[in-house]
Amino acid sequence: MSGKSAQQTVLITGCSKGGIGDALARSFHSKGFKVFASARTLSKISHLKAIGISVLVLDIVDPSSVSNAVDVIKIATGGTLDILVNNAGAGKIITLLNKECYLIEQGILHRY
Ligand SMILES: NC(=O)c1ccc[n+]([C@@H]2O[C@H](COP(=O)([O-])OP(=O)(O)OC[C@H]3O[C@@H](n4cnc5c(N)ncnc54)[C@H](OP(=O)(O)O)[C@@H]3O)[C@@H](O)[C@H]2O)c1
Repeated sequence: MSGKSAQQTVLITGCSKGGIGDALARSFHSKGFKVFASARTLSKISHLKAIGISVLVLDIVDPSSVSNAVDVIKIATGGTLDILVNNAGAGKIITLLNKECYLIEQGILHRY
């Protein structure tokens, strides 16, 4: 018999209230997954903790934060996380003109 629990585990990044990560966390939870919901600020995911979802701090661009989160997840899952949904990020809606400026700012000259 395997020592692994039958319950599937999922870590979702960027679960602040009202976003896609929040909705995914609640959806996985309602389907019986063991959900680890993360955010940069715990107060933004306290509503998920209140319904029984495990919450943790994770800033995906901070190596020490990532390392801490990996340790927490390893301990909690016995090193057998099933799914990672790396949702964290920020969308940008920009005009074509702004896009050209942005590319030049990055040192890439792009002419149409
Ligand atoms: N909504 C759309 O139409 C759409 C379309 C295409 C792609 N997406 C992508 O889908 C994802 C979710 O979108 P959303 O609309 O739900 O956006 P959202 O409500 O702004 O949620 C983004 C989440 O990512 C978190 N986040 C940002 N930078 C982070 C970092 N360095 N480390 C950890 N967490 C970080 C935010 O945390 P804070 O609350 O702390 O800022 C927030 O929890 C994003 O990656 C977005 O680019 C969205």
